[in-house]
Amino acid sequence: MGLIEVRNVSKSFNGLPVLEDVNLVVEEGTTVVILGKSGVGKSVLLKAIIGLIEPDAGSIRIDGHEVVGMKRKDLNALRRQMGYLFQGAALYDSMSVRENLIFPLERREQLTREELEERIIRQLEMVGLEDAIDKMPAELSGGMKKRIALARALIINPRIMLYDEPTTGLDPITAREISYLIKELQHRYQPTSIAVTHDMMCARIIADKVAVLHDGVVEHEGSLDELEKVDNEIVRSFFATE
Ligand SMILES: Nc1ncnc2c1ncn2[C@@H]1O[C@H](COP(=O)(O)OP(=O)(O)OP(=O)(O)O)[C@@H](O)[C@H]1O
Ligand SMILES: [Mg+2]
Repeated sequence: MGLIEVRNVSKSFNGLPVLEDVNLVVEEGTTVVILGKSGVGKSVLLKAIIGLIEPDAGSIRIDGHEVVGMKRKDLNALRRQMGYLFQGAALYDSMSVRENLIFPLERREQLTREELEERIIRQLEMVGLEDAIDKMPAELSGGMKKRIALARALIINPRIMLYDEPTTGLDPITAREISYLIKELQHRYQPTSIAVTHDMMCARIIADKVAVLHDGVVEHEGSLDELEKVDNEIVRSFFATE
């Protein structure tokens, strides 16, 4: 049994199918990378997993609990165990780095000011940005913002971590650095994770397993070495980008 189990999930918008019959199992403590072209429904799938989008049909189980149709109260409790790195600008622009990191902790843990400060500094050290604590997001580069967003997503020590295009919009060198940082953080926290991307370099660094999403279904899944041998045009097109 996987910690995350997606079974026969479909979702249309205005009569246009996006997800048609998606199946995916993520074993506890592993990282699955979903590769897929732009618009294929990667973000929709992640949003369905955290219960932000309700599928038309199918089942999404997290640790045995059905997310589809789950009561708001239970969904909120489940979400408290999940970290989410959003696609694009991932920080609250009107808040300092410190406030961005305090935010996820405030509602869930009773910590003193000193404890909070200590936790935030420790978290920033992990991503190499302890000096940025008093900065505003506008003062940071794209790569620095991603590091802060990673620190923020992981500060709650999530059991499940979802990454939506963690390296998109970054230059290749920064994308590589962020990918290695994700790998290091995955090793440290060991959350069960799904990362969606079209960045093969990132997939190579962080994936235990890869699933290729295309035309509403998972076309192929396996290790990158396995996928590299698959005789399928869609799968091969990703390797051609390397
Ligand atoms: N809330 C929504 N209402 C209507 N259509 C939506 C909604 N969310 C997503 N879609 C549509 O679903 C399709 C898939 O969108 P999605 O954002 O999941 O793509 P993606 O694979 O994440 O692409 P990208 O790599 O560009 O981020 C798109 O055609 C999009 O317009
Ligand atoms: Mg997306």
